[in-house]
Amino acid sequence: MTWFFDPHRTYEDNLARGPFGAFAEDGVVAPDGEPRHLFLGTPVHSPFGIAAGPLVNAAYCAAAFRAGFDLATYKTVRSGAHPSHPFPNTLAVHVDGDLEAGRTEPLLADADLDGATSISNSFGVPSRDPDGWQPDMAAAVAAAGEGQVLVGSFQGTRPSSGGVDAYVADHVRAARLVVETGASVLEMNLSCPNEGTGNLLCFDTPGVARIAGAVKDAVGDVPLLLKLAYFRDDAALAGLVDATAGIVDGYAAINTLPARLVDSRGVQALPGEGRETAGVCGDAIRWAGLEMTARLARIREDRGAEVTLVGVGGVLTPEHHRAYRAAGADAVMCATGALLDPGLGREVRATSV
Ligand SMILES: Cc1cc2nc3c(=O)[nH]c(=O)nc-3n(C[C@H](O)[C@H](O)[C@H](O)COP(=O)(O)O)c2cc1C
Repeated sequence: MTWFFDPHRTYEDNLARGPFGAFAEDGVVAPDGEPRHLFLGTPVHSPFGIAAGPLVNAAYCAAAFRAGFDLATYKTVRSGAHPSHPFPNTLAVHVDGDLEAGRTEPLLADADLDGATSISNSFGVPSRDPDGWQPDMAAAVAAAGEGQVLVGSFQGTRPSSGGVDAYVADHVRAARLVVETGASVLEMNLSCPNEGTGNLLCFDTPGVARIAGAVKDAVGDVPLLLKLAYFRDDAALAGLVDATAGIVDGYAAINTLPARLVDSRGVQALPGEGRETAGVCGDAIRWAGLEMTARLARIREDRGAEVTLVGVGGVLTPEHHRAYRAAGADAVMCATGALLDPGLGREVRATSV
């Protein structure tokens, strides 16, 4: 089966020619009745959809809505143009069962994607210039039907000068540009390598609180989600929630789990500097997404915090979706699962109450 974002093509080729496979078809999966759920204040048919990544432009988002995914996240944009990591980006990752957090032994990764349920995603968060993505994101917003929501994902870029102030300002600029497209929900990606330190921004609690405060001041009532990585340290996660729950509207977790990927000769699988380790998503990380959801739900309850939780990671079936809801997620999103089964939105709609 051809995936709608084809891992055998470059990012640029997918952007220019996709979507492919089932998402290239015109058919619409009509909802059954009125929207019965609320997602950050907007009525939706089902609080389920596609996480940031596979939907690289408006044509992909429109196809996702037609296919019955009621939440569609437009792939993370930046305040300026940024190139993609070189091809390949998405490889099959051969992992037996769960991928443990902090694993140091390498994993075999190759282009044999038939039957793969865990994959790498190593794009470096490419972005077009705002002049390119803003009108396109506005078209994606317009493609949402009744009971559907387009989420605008963005992240900051560390400028070459200006230090922390300039980095904060870049987040604000990117957020404002997304709001101008009409996106009714924002997601700030804090879980990609934070240039310059090799660490993830989401683990820098004071930095996140400062950036989230500045962004929220700029965007006002537009709901803001923080996209988090897997936290191994429970106290650090609680600290982040304590510092930000009064500012933001919720959290989406998780992004990927990192692992060292090698080919059959034991050589680095993805070409280029800084790509020895790449993010792994899909089946092998579901345990981590579920655990983070349960921990966030517990912290939310302890604090009486009014935040929305979006569970992400390894959702390949309607049963996985239900497990996330049972763990405390108000909404659930998938990336790998939608690539493997473009009918998953329809299936979740049909089986969730
Ligand atoms: C092809 C691809 C591209 C991705 N790009 C982004 C991105 O631009 N921004 C982001 O926050 N997450 C990105 N992700 C991560 C997903 O949003 C998600 O957090 C992760 O894949 C775990 O979900 P899954 O197991 O359902 O794939 C990407 C994932 C995939 C598969």
